[in-house]
Amino acid sequence: MSNSPVDQHAAFLADVLKGLSSPQPSIPCKYLYDATGSELFEQICKTPEYYVTRADLALHEAHVAEFANLIGPGAHIIEFGAGSGIKTRKLLASLETPRAYTPIEISAAALAASTRDLSRAFPEIEIRPLQADYTQLIRAKDLALDPPAQRKIVYFPGSTISNFTHSEAQTFLKRMRRIAGRDGGVLIGVDLVKQQKRLLAAYDDAAGITAAFNLNLLDRLARELDAALNREDFAHEARYNSDKRRVEMHLVARRDTQIELAGQEFTFSAGQSIHTENSHKYSVRDFRQLAESAGLKIQSTWKDPEGLFSMHFLRPMAPARRAPTQ
Ligand SMILES: C[S@@+](CC[C@H](N)C(=O)[O-])C[C@H]1O[C@@H](n2cnc3c(N)ncnc32)[C@H](O)[C@@H]1O
Repeated sequence: MSNSPVDQHAAFLADVLKGLSSPQPSIPCKYLYDATGSELFEQICKTPEYYVTRADLALHEAHVAEFANLIGPGAHIIEFGAGSGIKTRKLLASLETPRAYTPIEISAAALAASTRDLSRAFPEIEIRPLQADYTQLIRAKDLALDPPAQRKIVYFPGSTISNFTHSEAQTFLKRMRRIAGRDGGVLIGVDLVKQQKRLLAAYDDAAGITAAFNLNLLDRLARELDAALNREDFAHEARYNSDKRRVEMHLVARRDTQIELAGQEFTFSAGQSIHTENSHKYSVRDFRQLAESAGLKIQSTWKDPEGLFSMHFLRPMAPARRAPTQ
């Protein structure tokens, strides 16, 4: 990671203290992904309820040749939140002479495993793993190649963009546009609005894997930050917020309880929650507007036959021409 382990620990503690002190207590969702969280996420992807990965994978299988065509030869693929890289494999295999692949990933365990697998599968591609928090600034030198690639393509499948609020997503898309540059592009997956029942099931599977994924955050607080808490006092809950068109994950206090952390005590009455993740859902129209507000134009959109999920190839919009001065 660009930051030392000591810095990472200090940032984790500071973020949790800040989040637990807010009127609606919260913890940033990036902390869901330690080695255990990454492993649980892979299991979530295989549950019958979590349609997201299957739909995204099916779109890759059906359209990867079109993705490759739009990306063109000699590209540097930069992936945010790469995870296990199952879709990445399909993409890299279909590209014409890719120049390099940079996965940016917060989870050291997930990054090490996918780098090992992809290096074996694609010995001819330069793989440049970057353990980093993509919500922080990525240094240009970490993405620079010598000689430079023909094109930079930001790859962001899995609808991880959904974790951001709309204004955060707009800021993030602007960063992607800057990274891609004038000649580059963005290949992104976006989950679509659908029946509430289906959405809630996807974030609260019957086998309890999403619950374990969410509750693992409390284990991290106890193990890494030395927090005193009783895990059994909290339960996983998925809620649909219809105003914001998002599924929210919460850890809800089953009874009055407290978390002691770094000399502070945070009390929770029964029913109070810690908000741990958002997953915003879009229509294609809404996403187009969002992308355009960030200076990116949709060149192609793909949807699965059921209309569950979408992929988009975005290109930077030409800057508005300034009126000539008189
Ligand atoms: C929803 S999963 C998607 C994984 C994969 N891209 C896919 O499509 O299946 C989100 C991934 O982003 C990573 N991640 C989450 N927040 C991050 C952050 N702030 N910086 C870097 N990686 C992050 C997680 O570790 C996880 O691998």
